[in-house]
This record gives sequence, structure tokens and C-alpha cells, in this order.
Amino acid sequence: MKENKKSKKTFYITTPIYYVNDVPHIGHAYTTIAADVMARYKKLCGYDVFFSTGTDEHGQKIARSAEKVNLTPLELADKMVLKFKNLWPLLNIKYDDFIRTTEPRHIKVVQEIFAKLYEKGDIYKGEYEGWYCVPCETFWTETQLTDETCPTCGKKIEKIKEESYFFKMSKYQDQISSYFEKNPQCIQPKARRNEIISFVKSGLKDQSITRTKKSLKWGIDVPFDNNHVIYVWYDALLNYITVAGYNIDNEKFEKYWPADVHLVGKDILRFHTVIWFTMLMAAGIELPRMVFAHGWWTIEGEKMSKSKGNVVDPYKMIEEYGADAFRYFLMREVSFGQDGNFSKDLLIKRINYDLANDLGNLVSRTIAMITQYFNQEIPQSGIEKEEYDVELENFALKNIKKYYTQMDNLSLNAALETIWQFIRRTNKYIDQTAPWILGRDSSQKERLSTILYNLAESIRLSAILIYPFMPVKAKEIWEQLGLESDLEKIRLDEDASWGKLIPGILVKPGKIIFPRIDTKKKELQKLQEDKSNIISYDEFKKIDLRVGKVISAEEVSGTDKLLKLEISLGAETRTIVAGVKKYYTAEEILGKKIVIVTNLQPVKLRGIESQGMLLAAVGKDDVVLLTIDKDIAEGSKIQ
Ligand code: ME8
Ligand code: MG
Repeated sequence: MKENKKSKKTFYITTPIYYVNDVPHIGHAYTTIAADVMARYKKLCGYDVFFSTGTDEHGQKIARSAEKVNLTPLELADKMVLKFKNLWPLLNIKYDDFIRTTEPRHIKVVQEIFAKLYEKGDIYKGEYEGWYCVPCETFWTETQLTDETCPTCGKKIEKIKEESYFFKMSKYQDQISSYFEKNPQCIQPKARRNEIISFVKSGLKDQSITRTKKSLKWGIDVPFDNNHVIYVWYDALLNYITVAGYNIDNEKFEKYWPADVHLVGKDILRFHTVIWFTMLMAAGIELPRMVFAHGWWTIEGEKMSKSKGNVVDPYKMIEEYGADAFRYFLMREVSFGQDGNFSKDLLIKRINYDLANDLGNLVSRTIAMITQYFNQEIPQSGIEKEEYDVELENFALKNIKKYYTQMDNLSLNAALETIWQFIRRTNKYIDQTAPWILGRDSSQKERLSTILYNLAESIRLSAILIYPFMPVKAKEIWEQLGLESDLEKIRLDEDASWGKLIPGILVKPGKIIFPRIDTKKKELQKLQEDKSNIISYDEFKKIDLRVGKVISAEEVSGTDKLLKLEISLGAETRTIVAGVKKYYTAEEILGKKIVIVTNLQPVKLRGIESQGMLLAAVGKDDVVLLTIDKDIAEGSKIQ
């Protein structure tokens, strides 16, 4: 089957299927863009490509998120799936199939495989006692833990004790170990492979793969036992065979399976190698050729999290910087496989230096010169080649070759660097040959025509090479060169060689392809956005501010921040817990008349209900309470 498949030159690449408890962010965009880049590249190489993505919709995490917003899990999924489905085309991502795990085609496959392994004896019923992390949907054994928090995400884990079906993973310990040995390419990058190999060496335990309906209803039913639903990861991993047509469209499945690359983040590599590979071994299905785990993005040096409010929204990035520039940044900034740090400054630098200066200027200068000196017509290359010409041509060919190797190894950032070396080399060629000087001298027309042909040819080649990364921008360049063929139908082996550009085509000067980001303007915009924080008088009036007198003050034990205050408002007394202990002692604060917000929703701090808030000025190293200029009755309104 393998040989047969190879001769057909197919390429099947997948992204993880994303949880629908939350909106898509930069992390999801990253993996999906990388998969899209590879899919487009392989198409240029002449492969019949199948690129799948989708959503993971079952499990406790989704069930709980739905409950919080008063929706059924499916209602939540139906809503959230649109956020993903709408985003991908805006990011110029072109997948072939989108799978949702709640679709009948998938439920059928999961139940069939479950039943098959049960009949085979690889699934059996037992009792599970251990721990579970809901955010990661991961089972943990006592020995893997140091306390009651998840070793992966650090959140609190839960104890489970219930009847469960188990998958006999331990049975495949030797088989998977020797598979890893014989197929070293199957886990990439190398450093991560070693982690997995040593994990397997430490011993595989049988894996709990169901939950009782008492503890979780939102999942695929065990086909022969109404009291259990299937564990979300066991269900999710099978999406890769469902979407390829397993037991539904055998011809398609034969054609594309095994997957050539499962692209995942490093967080879920273990699921994709240990659990997934042993599941496939048990089911007698060929294993994927490669699982590639890329690294993790932090945001301005910090872990991305909702509570920090630093989650990067791809929709906003597209709006502010454009989809292709965002794609370029993500693919270029870090070496694929390593962790990376996102910052707007770095993004703007990449746009201004790499895109606007290096590439954008090359295109606009060349097109302007062809327009000026040759009436828009791409000129003939002269017969005589000078040293600079030969050097440029050789550089192009050398870098195109390097590009293939890097792309084939998923060294996506290195491939971009290779293209940019060529772009910068072409800019150097302009400096070396100084065509604007030759343009003044009509006897140099032939030399000038060679130079401008070479420049246009370099741009044509660059457009082809950047197409997988920036499909829309590549097309704009293509069109400004006057080329009419469909970039998607380009074949690297035919078109990515020197001299394929046909002279006589009319270039089409157009808009600036990569506008510079004006950082000054950005700052101004930000200031204006801040101004839009203005509130109306009516809004201000909603805040009830009063004069209050501190009539009792004591320290809250077990914290170095809090004081518990009793505040007299005249008619009533309030308890307020205030974080001022570092700046005021209890004695100091006692008797002061201060400003209180009285209609703030009460909160519990250290078990004490705080019924309001006091106002203070917060300096760099100090906090100072707002007091009253002259004496006035407690409870007086402030307005
Ligand atoms: O794990 N940096 O879904 P998920 C880089 N449903 N990539 C990131 C990232 C970051 N900070 N954050 C997320 C699941 N990702 C399961 C998968 S597959 C059968 C089931 C990317 O929504 C990265 O690809 O939590 C990571 O593996 C994936 O999103 C996790 O997405
Ligand atoms: Mg996750």
C-alpha cells in the first residue's frame, strides 16, 4: 500500500482539532497557518494534497463551559465553531475538510473502533481510581503527581473513582518502542522525540477511556453499554481517520492514509504519539508518517491567559496588519519547533523592514523603472552576461534548492530566511548595476534591458517562493508583473527556474503592496482609543461616593496586605477590607475621614464580606488615602 501510495504522490496534513470552549487565538492560528503553508507548498510540488482541520466538541471542559453560559454543549459548539470556520478564510487558509467530532460520520467511526477493540480483548471493563485535569482533559496517576495540581497546566485536579473501560496500552509497550527505534523520523523535532521515548520506557499503563454517565454525559456513547461515554481524547484522535474517509470512503482513505504530517503543539505530543500510535496498532491501521510538535508562543514575554487579558485575537491582527503580514511574522519570527515570543513591536519591525523595505521596495522600484524606461514592457535579456548577472542567477538557483530542502523538513522560518537572502541579494544587484544611471544614457539601452529583465525575473521567482506563506500578497506581486497564469497552478519543477519570464509582457504598476506601519500614527491612535474611555455624567452619577469615618481597624491575619475596617457613614456602619496594610498601620488609619464607594457589589476577602471600597491615590511606590479638606458629617454625599 505504501509503494502504491507513494507513486500517487499524495500528501495528507492535519491540524489538531480545537476545543470549542473558547474563541480562536494566536496559538490556533499558528498551527493552522503552518499547515496551510505546507499544504500550499506541496501542491506547488505537484502533490495531491489533503489538508484537514476541525473542532473537538465533547468532554467535560466543553460541558462545563456550556453550563456556565446556560447553553447545551451542542449549542455552545454550534456557536463557537463559526468563530473558527469564519476565521480560517480571513487568514487565507484553504483546508479541504473541516471535521466536527459531533458529526454522525465521526461518531460512527469511534463506535466501530471501540467495538472492534473490545471484541479483540484490547478494551476491558474495570475500575478507575485516580485524578483528572478538566482543562487538559488528562488522567493522572498518583505517582505522576506531587500535589493536587495538574503537572501540565498547574490547575486544580479532581479525584475520580468509578467503573471504567480501559484500553490495554501496556500490551503495546514493546511494539511501540521498537517502532520508534525503526522510524526515527516519526516524531519531530528530535529533542521532543527523546522525551517521548523515555516516557514510554518508564512503562505504559492501561488507559482509562470511558466515563460513567453519572459523572459526564457529553460524549460519544459506548456502543454496547449505555452507562458510559467515551473519553474525549480517545474520540478526538480518531478524527484523523474519519476525515480521511475510514470505513466511509475507502478509496479516499487508501489514497491519503497514513497521514504524512500531524502538526501539533508540544502540549499534545504525548497524546499524538503514545496514545494515538498504540490505538492504531491495536486497530491494525497503519501509523502516521510523522507527528511534528511546534513550540509555544508567549505574549510580550508572558504566558497567554484570559485572566491576564493578553490573549492575541487573530481577527484583530488581520484588521490591523493584514492576514499575510501576520502569517509572515508567525512563520518568520521563530524557528519552527522552538518557543516564540509575540510582541507588536517585533511584528511592526518585520513588516517595515522585511516586507515594506526589502521586498516592497524591490517590487515598486523595478516596476517603476520598467515603466519609465521601457513603456511598461518587460525587456529582453541581452546576450552578453556580466559577472553580476551570473552571480545573481547562481544565487537564485542555489537558494531555490536550499528552500526545497528546508520546506521539506518543515524548517519554515529558515526557508523564509533563504528567500529573503535572495531578495536582499537582488537589492544589492540594483546597487551594483545602478540602472538609474544607465537610464540616462541611450547607448546603454541593451545593458539596461538585461538588468531590468533580471530584476523582474528575481521578483517572479520570489513571488513563487513566498506564495505558500503569503498567497494573497504573492498574487498581487504576480499581477503587477503582468503575469496572468494562476499562481496556484504553478509547478516548482517547471516554473521555479531562471529565465522562464517571457519578455514583452506589460507590467501593471499598482498600489503599494506592503505599506509601512507608521509607528507614530499607531501611538496617536492608541491615545485616541484611550480617550474613548470618556463616560457620561449619568454614568458617573451611578457611583455613590460618601464621606466615611474609620471607627475601628484591625489586621487580617495570614496576609501582609489587608486591613479590616469598620466605617461609619452616619446612619450605618460598613465593614470594608482594604489592601493598604503596607502603607498604613491600624493605628494610623483609625479616626480618619475618607472617601468610600458605597454601592459596589460586595466581595468576600479572606472570608470577610467587604461592603464597599475606599479611594486612594496610587503612586509608583506609595498609596495615599483621599481625605477630607474640612470637617463634614459622616455620610455626606460626594458629587
Ligand atoms: O488540545 N502557542 O485543543 P486546544 C502555540 N482539542 N500553539 C498553541 C498555543 C500557544 N500558546 N496555544 C494553543 C486541544 N496552541 C485538543 C486537540 S487533537 C486530536 C485534539 C495550538 O484548543 C497548538 O497547536 O487546546 C496546540 O496543540 C493546540 O492549539 C491546542 O488546542
Ligand atoms: Mg489546550
